[in-house]
Amino acid sequence: MKGIILAGGTGSRLWPITLSVSKQLLPVYDKPMIYYPLSVLMLAGIREILVITTPDDRPAFASLLGNGRRFGISIEYAEQATPAGIAEACLIGADFTAGEPFALILGDNLFFGHGLPEHLDAARQQVETRGGAVIFAHRVADPERYGVVTFDETGRVLTILEKPDRPPSSFAVTGLYFYDGEAAALAERLTPSARGELEITDLNRAYRDREALHVRQLGRGFAWLDTGTPDSLLEAGEFVATLERRQGIRISSPEEIAWRQRWISDDELLATARALGKGGYAQYLAALPDQL
Ligand code: G1P
Repeated sequence: MKGIILAGGTGSRLWPITLSVSKQLLPVYDKPMIYYPLSVLMLAGIREILVITTPDDRPAFASLLGNGRRFGISIEYAEQATPAGIAEACLIGADFTAGEPFALILGDNLFFGHGLPEHLDAARQQVETRGGAVIFAHRVADPERYGVVTFDETGRVLTILEKPDRPPSSFAVTGLYFYDGEAAALAERLTPSARGELEITDLNRAYRDREALHVRQLGRGFAWLDTGTPDSLLEAGEFVATLERRQGIRISSPEEIAWRQRWISDDELLATARALGKGGYAQYLAALPDQL
C-alpha cells in the first residue's frame, strides 16, 4: 500500500506566520508538523509516500525529508498549484498510486492513542482485501467545523455531510482516509463545491452510494488534534510536550518508528542522530539502541 500526505494550502488562519513558511513545517513542540502524519503512515507499514505541497514550499519539504532514506522509506513530491480541495490529491497522486489502494492523510492532522497501529492495520486490510474506503470518526465538541458522519453499529456509513449547520451527530471525520484503487476514477467525476474545492466528503459520499464506505470510531482515549489556528497549534504543542515530559519518550518520531520497524539499522539511526547535532532530539535518538 502507498501513502499520500497533502501539505498544500495557504494556512490563511495563521497569517502572518504562514506567509513565508508552510503551515505543515511549523513546529508542534519538538518536531515539524509533517512528522506527525508521516509517522501515522509509517505506523500503517507504508513505505512509499508522496508528499503534495504548494509549488513554492516544495524545496523546503524536500530539504527536510529528502528522498526518505533516513526514515527507511521512499518519498516523492508533487505539487498542488492552488488549494483546490483534498479530493484533488487523489488526482494529483493518480500516477503515483497507479490503481493501487492507498492511504491519504492531511499534513496538519495529529493522531495519538493506544491502539492506533491496530486501527491502521484493520483499515488497510479492509481496503486491500475487500475494497471500498475506510474513514475515521472522532467525537468533538464542534462538529459543524468538520465533515460529520452518522453510522450504524457495524460501521456502515449512513450519512456524511461537509460542515453542516445542524450536525446530525458529534462525530467528525478526521483527515485520514484509506481508499481502494477506484479513488482516482471516482474523484475524476467530482465537481467543485460552493467554496471552489473538490471535497473529500463528496468522494466519500460516492463510496457510500456504492455501499462501500466504512467508518472506524476512534474512542474517547484518542487524541485527534488539528493545528490550523494559533490556539489549536499551541494546544497541540502543549499536548505533545505534556506527554513527552511525563513519559520521557518522544511521540511520532519517524526515525524511531523506522528503527523499531527495522527499516533502518542501529548504525543508520546513529548517523541521523549525529547529523542532528547535540540537541535533545538527537540525544534521544542516539540513546534508543541502549534502551530495553
Ligand atoms: C477538511 C475536510 C473535512 C474534515 C477535515 C479534517 O476540512 O473537508 O471533512 O473533517 O478536513 O481536518 P478543511 O480543512 O478543508 O476545513
